[in-house]
Amino acid sequence: MKNRSLISINDYSKEEILQVLDLAVKFEQNPSQELLSGKVIATLFFEPSTRTRLSFESAVNRLGGKIIGFSDSASSSATKGETLKDTIKTVSNYSDLIVMRHPIEGSARYASEVSTVPIVNAGDGANQHPTQTLLDLYSIRKTQGKLENLNLFIVGDLKYGRTVHSLLMAMAHFNATYYFISPKELRIPTEYKMYLDQHNLKYSEHADFKDIVDEADIIYMTRVQKERFSDPIEYEKTKNAYVLKNAMLQNTRNNLRVLHPLPRVNEISTDVDDSEKAYYFTQALNGVYTRQAIISLILGLKN
Ligand code: CP
Repeated sequence: MKNRSLISINDYSKEEILQVLDLAVKFEQNPSQELLSGKVIATLFFEPSTRTRLSFESAVNRLGGKIIGFSDSASSSATKGETLKDTIKTVSNYSDLIVMRHPIEGSARYASEVSTVPIVNAGDGANQHPTQTLLDLYSIRKTQGKLENLNLFIVGDLKYGRTVHSLLMAMAHFNATYYFISPKELRIPTEYKMYLDQHNLKYSEHADFKDIVDEADIIYMTRVQKERFSDPIEYEKTKNAYVLKNAMLQNTRNNLRVLHPLPRVNEISTDVDDSEKAYYFTQALNGVYTRQAIISLILGLKN
């Protein structure tokens, strides 16, 4: 992983994914270490973020590094017409690693091709969000004691959900059985179903999950993402398609945990928050340890 960009979850082998998770366990045990002394990490967020940016920045601060960057591209020279290429070439002169979120699919890969330092994709449009997936895997392994042979329910916006696309590919290493639950407008794209077919993995598509929820090990709820719709009427039609309520968890498996990359809007009722099966806020915390591991491995400070 040393000096390599992380753009898609498929940039890492199964062994490398497990290496990140194992190192993240060590950071959870001891999160404050002076590993990044003298290092500068740039966070360039061309799209809004709370968890990804702040957990990266928390990770860097806890490791003794320095942060530069912007949380709003309106404050950058992109608003004056500067190209992404010129921005990246400039910021790679100022930093040892760049974490970038951008609304355009493929932008992170492009940035990695023009950068002189590694790029970590913090979400590129509806494409990929690999560091979210690594923290999702960390959370799944921590709550289930394993990653193999789990029933994974993925609910909501499966069309535009970049966290869904990355997670689906990563769980293919671990023989997951996938239950895709979405409105018809937001079904999982064909290319991802083909991916699962190529890997001989089982999946099924459903309009609802009330009658099958007792089969779930993980329910991965997602937000219907208003910002990805070109037609506001389409968004209005689908935005409240699924609302998980505590009562729906009554006859579910003891090991079931509810995950969500967050932010949530309406799709998980707040009455779920106090359930022992709600894991989404701890999941977000796990992002700090996982991102500490990712940065340390890319910069060759751990192996
Ligand atoms: N999960 C996630 O990407 O959250 P943010 O948009 O707040 O970074």
